[in-house]
Amino acid sequence: MSTTSIPSDRKIVLVTGASSGIGEATARHLAAAGHHVVLGARRVDRLTVLVKELSEAGYSAEYAELDVTDPAGVNAFAETALARHGRIDVLVNNAGVMPLAPMAALHVAEWNQMIDVNLRGVLHGIAAVLPSMLERRAGHVVNIASTAAYRVDPTAAVYCATKYAVRALSEGLRQENSDIKVTVVSPGFTRSELADKGGDPQAQGAARSATELIGLPASAVAEAIGYAIGQPAGVDVNEIVVRPTVQN
Ligand SMILES: NC(=O)c1ccc[n+]([C@@H]2O[C@H](COP(=O)([O-])OP(=O)(O)OC[C@H]3O[C@@H](n4cnc5c(N)ncnc54)[C@H](OP(=O)(O)O)[C@@H]3O)[C@@H](O)[C@H]2O)c1
Repeated sequence: MSTTSIPSDRKIVLVTGASSGIGEATARHLAAAGHHVVLGARRVDRLTVLVKELSEAGYSAEYAELDVTDPAGVNAFAETALARHGRIDVLVNNAGVMPLAPMAALHVAEWNQMIDVNLRGVLHGIAAVLPSMLERRAGHVVNIASTAAYRVDPTAAVYCATKYAVRALSEGLRQENSDIKVTVVSPGFTRSELADKGGDPQAQGAARSATELIGLPASAVAEAIGYAIGQPAGVDVNEIVVRPTVQN
């Protein structure tokens, strides 16, 4: 496939989990900043509408169906972007799930889902972009962790474990590669669909109430991601924690 004529100052940015919440807000923010966004998620109906809206606004965007738990699918997502544009400048590893429940409830399938999406999904993304970034000696991996990567709370044990792990692997990736920028963005309560799916009804209800009461707009997290991406060559913003002022 031939490469498009995207100017080199416009970054090619892949965003996983772009069909709602923080990923969708990040797509809007980065597209409006002039970057070309390549959006992935399972709900392609949402991505179709978003890309249409961005394109009609004069921005540059495309999408592909993506399940981050499938390493071959994540590779294909990155390979397609690479073939089309000749490079991947930034990967925003954003896709995530948070079915909260006490461990004693033994929601083992949901524990595995959190590990598969939040941890393995991030690793699949890194594996898909790292070789071409190393070859170019340039690139930026932005991993979305959480304030749950810094403190553990009841009903969030496994979710926190995945987010602590994302922080740990990000630091390792950073230390091993002097040409690649690595940023961990850790939001606090943020308005999105995160607490709408799965988990224990009481735990999810509490998370939803807190988010409705104090949650940041997803655009606030998108701006933090945009800040990290906007730094000049040689400047690597390693960690950003962005939470509501009233969150303890
Ligand atoms: N909202 C918060 O308070 C908060 C706080 C800290 C950290 N975070 C983190 O922020 C990230 C985004 O979450 P959000 O709050 O924006 O929630 P959200 O609105 O539920 O968005 C989650 C996104 O992940 C995608 N996703 C889930 N499973 C996937 C899979 N297997 N493959 C590909 N995409 C998948 C979803 O798309 P599809 O369902 O269409 O695939 C959706 O686009 C997550 O990593 C989350 O842990 C959120």
